[in-house]
Amino acid sequence: MCGIIGYIGTKEASPILLSGLKRMEYRGYDSYGFCFLNDGKASLFKRVGKIDNTEKEFLGKDFVGQIGIGHSRWATTGLVTQENAHPHCDCKKEIFVVHNGIVENYKELKAKLIKEGHIFESETDTEVIAHLIEKYYVNNLEGAVGKALRDIRGTYGLAVISTKDPEKIVAARMSSPLIIGVGVDEFLVASDPSAIITRTRQIINLDDGEIAILKKDGFCILKEEKEAQKNIETIDWDIEQAEKGGYEHFMLKEIMEEPSVIEDAMRGRLLEDEGLVKLGGLESVQDQLRKIDNITLIGCGTAHYAAKIGEYMLEEYANIPTLTDIGSEFRYRKPIVNKSTAAIFVSQSGETADTLAALREMKAKGVLTLGVTNVVGSSQSRETDAGVYTRSGPEIAVASTKAFLGQLTILSLITIYLGRQRDMSIVTGKRIISELMKIPELAREILKQKNEIKKIAEKYKNCRDFWFIGRKYNYPIALEGALKLKEVSYVHAEGLAGGELKHGPLALIDENCPTIAICPTDSVYEKMISNIEEIKARKGKIIAIATVGNEEIEKIADDVIYIPKTLEMLTPILSVIPLHLFAYYFADSLDRDIDKPKNLAKSVTVE
Ligand code: M6R
Repeated sequence: MCGIIGYIGTKEASPILLSGLKRMEYRGYDSYGFCFLNDGKASLFKRVGKIDNTEKEFLGKDFVGQIGIGHSRWATTGLVTQENAHPHCDCKKEIFVVHNGIVENYKELKAKLIKEGHIFESETDTEVIAHLIEKYYVNNLEGAVGKALRDIRGTYGLAVISTKDPEKIVAARMSSPLIIGVGVDEFLVASDPSAIITRTRQIINLDDGEIAILKKDGFCILKEEKEAQKNIETIDWDIEQAEKGGYEHFMLKEIMEEPSVIEDAMRGRLLEDEGLVKLGGLESVQDQLRKIDNITLIGCGTAHYAAKIGEYMLEEYANIPTLTDIGSEFRYRKPIVNKSTAAIFVSQSGETADTLAALREMKAKGVLTLGVTNVVGSSQSRETDAGVYTRSGPEIAVASTKAFLGQLTILSLITIYLGRQRDMSIVTGKRIISELMKIPELAREILKQKNEIKKIAEKYKNCRDFWFIGRKYNYPIALEGALKLKEVSYVHAEGLAGGELKHGPLALIDENCPTIAICPTDSVYEKMISNIEEIKARKGKIIAIATVGNEEIEKIADDVIYIPKTLEMLTPILSVIPLHLFAYYFADSLDRDIDKPKNLAKSVTVE
């Protein structure tokens, strides 16, 4: 999510780090910073905002050195401030760290370090890494980094430099991308190939648990304290492709990130043994939440569909009467709320004008407001009373994909949270958590079928009308599948609840109008089969999204995409993935401008 770069060699580091960070700016960062080492002295530079005219401020002036690290931040823990920008350092300002990832146990580590006398300057999880390295430093930087990382639970791609051991960069990786660039008389480390591609195409991919030590005259990579033999690979992408992680479009890159988005949304928040979830962002209102007896969920577009699924989850598992509305409708209705209402606003950007207007309306009525937001420091996150961040990382494509998965994951966590405050048993809490923990792997299984899904999408490329049907938890997924298809392909698509077909839409079914039927093996499966038969009787084609092992479906559907079995309330998290891929490949077969569809904007900040 954040961008990391490091340089050690025979050239001035600042222009190299600056241009590397600038090349990662396409992801939309909120703050940035650098640290350089020169003659054993460190110079630190941090700013809020985009990299802009910075060259004049530091190039060739106070900020010199042939060793340096840089970072562009996309806030997850702590607001967008200069103090929270990286690099972070220890008490004596001798050790400097840039980090991408999440330290799950940072609160307990921070409390312990403060007791031991460490002084913190930021709200970030990253700063604990610098203080841990300080605590463990004896002879060399790599030894202290190795010890510090043993205390950390979570994910990291990091680069560290120190005035105490000034001739090296130490880098480490755990579930967060990190590559080493091997140049001529120079070595680089980066989270993103686009940052270093103009200096070298020779790279080494670090694996989890590996620590790299880069010096001016060579490098070594350690795994469990022994030297690891690694292959040097050659990147053959151009810069534009490198920004997209080698994918043709951001939309596809972001779909491929969906499993890790689910993981990141859950990270550090599950208390498996107690069947509970820990949501730090709701702690300040936890007593108020015990007293609420109705919920209104509000969002727009894709976020509204996530909210609708949240409604089904909350009613079934938390036993709380729940309503969902669209921001633009809610703001002009006469909402009936009371002191026991909680309003949950779902938004990727946190800047959607209609959602914010609904939020302000609810606040004016004295209702408790909560946010499920991706962007830290956004208007929604500042204006709600409390909330939970989805941690989905920057979403660049206009069509929202991975953010939707983050929203669904958080809504399922909120369901457990509120359910366990009420009459949800520990057994049910544990069951949902254990199924949730399997979801990222199951999502990866679905993504492995991308080539088959591509073939199906291409098979229907001449169709100009599509129906998407689903019931219960998968009704909003039908709406999402149709929205995604129309927004990126410009082809007409409509989503509806399967039971509504016979009330009108059946009149449109014929052999030219295929239906995507989301029919996992769940409590409404038989009902979905009846709907599919109604369509088949009118010569309509069926593409079924069904549960692995359901061979019967192949007898009635024209094409089948299988998803793994999970708990009914979690099926939408899986069933939407093939629909995102279908929309992507269908639009690609029509050569559409997938990342920037016509007439649309990423963030709708006007009414
Ligand atoms: O930033 P938000 O989640 O509040 O945005 C809401 C909608 O504008 C957004 O989901 C939109 O529908 C997307 N283009 C859907 O892919």
